[in-house]
Amino acid sequence: MIFAPLGNLTSGDVACEVSLDSLFGRHCAVLGTTGGGKSWTMAKLIEQVQIKTDNKIILVDATGEYQNLSNVEHCIVGENTYFPSSQLSNSNFCSLFREHSSNTSTILCEAINTLRLVAKGFLESGVKVGQNVADLSSTISKNLPSCINQDFNLSNLCEQVRNECIKEQNGKYVEDPFKLGYSAHLLARINLFLNNETVKSALGLSKASDAKSIIGMIDSFHGSEATVLRIGFERLSYDFAIREVVVDFIACHILRKGREGTFKGKPILLFIDEAHQFLNKRISADDDTSFYLQGIELIAKEARKYGLFLCLSTQMPRDIPLGVLSQMGTFIVHRLINEQDKKAIESAASSLNRSMLSFLPTMRAGEALLMGVDFPMPLLLRITPPVQTPQSGTPKLSKKRTCN
Ligand SMILES: Nc1ncnc2c1ncn2[C@@H]1O[C@H](COP(=O)(O)OP(=O)(O)OP(=O)(O)O)[C@@H](O)[C@H]1O
Ligand SMILES: [Mg+2]
Repeated sequence: MIFAPLGNLTSGDVACEVSLDSLFGRHCAVLGTTGGGKSWTMAKLIEQVQIKTDNKIILVDATGEYQNLSNVEHCIVGENTYFPSSQLSNSNFCSLFREHSSNTSTILCEAINTLRLVAKGFLESGVKVGQNVADLSSTISKNLPSCINQDFNLSNLCEQVRNECIKEQNGKYVEDPFKLGYSAHLLARINLFLNNETVKSALGLSKASDAKSIIGMIDSFHGSEATVLRIGFERLSYDFAIREVVVDFIACHILRKGREGTFKGKPILLFIDEAHQFLNKRISADDDTSFYLQGIELIAKEARKYGLFLCLSTQMPRDIPLGVLSQMGTFIVHRLINEQDKKAIESAASSLNRSMLSFLPTMRAGEALLMGVDFPMPLLLRITPPVQTPQSGTPKLSKKRTCN
């Protein structure tokens, strides 16, 4: 068993060492109101994993608080890294462009498929009007399976959607103004997204020449010397919920690697600070429907057995879907004031009794209640500050000079 000194018990000031397997083995949640000490606790946990184990950590840093940590490989989305659009599946594109209706999502998928076939050389161009329906359909169905991950020129997507607005007449394709009419919304959205600087930098459409793909970084990280890979979102604005979408794509990629057995021999830890930004997210589409991003939720539910452990911090436990909260084996709870938040934790962690819960509003920064399935007794701890602290101090108000 690997034990890590996390801090001292508040009663008696006794040093407390905690088993890292117990802490992370069934996922871990660090909870509490702003300024309670969550980010420092996350940094402490990262530090102890680095000191005591050979395991690797992927850290999703929403705000850039951890950008000064040393011994860490930093990738900053939208600056030196991007999520490659070639890795997006057709359904990923549907959620990126919020395309829900069956008619237009079919046109979108057909346009993407055609562009993939053109890029691989199976079709000369994306223009279908005038072509023989039977011949074209057979070329597409024969060659599409080998083009599933083919990169293509995303900037041609609008033109290709127009090319797909066709119908059959006497065995040939002719233009279909009706389809073009109901694709107008889709075309406007694709245009809006692909001309947005944030989306372009996040998906590598306007990247610096030395920018790297996040997928490549994650894949090579597993075999590299580095122990922590920080994926920072500090340069990405909140436009079009692109951060949520990208984190979801990353989570799905890591889960896919987990399912392939990549982490079985050597478990990996996925740390997500400010997880309320990424959890329980519904991004709304035009027609009042919404897409539910569930990558992180799926990791919480099924990834333990693949050697992929989640450690997330959030201010609002009530924002975490119950499905995720109930999968958490360990809770490190800092100061919590809101009654609903306390209830959310109470229902998820059976060992917590009412008297312990009453401590939560009175705790100082850095004090936390540690509880979970492997901890029969909840422990009230004062967490030792990490050697390298996140940049999260509270700026002080400045005194007026004339004031005494
Ligand atoms: N273990 C600790 N020991 C001493 N002081 C601490 C400790 N943890 C946190 N603090 C103090 O509390 C401040 C806020 O901590 P931290 O940034 O970790 O809070 P947080 O819960 O992450 O807040 P937010 O939700 O706003 O991100 C720190 O700048 C530090 O001064
Ligand atoms: Mg924080």
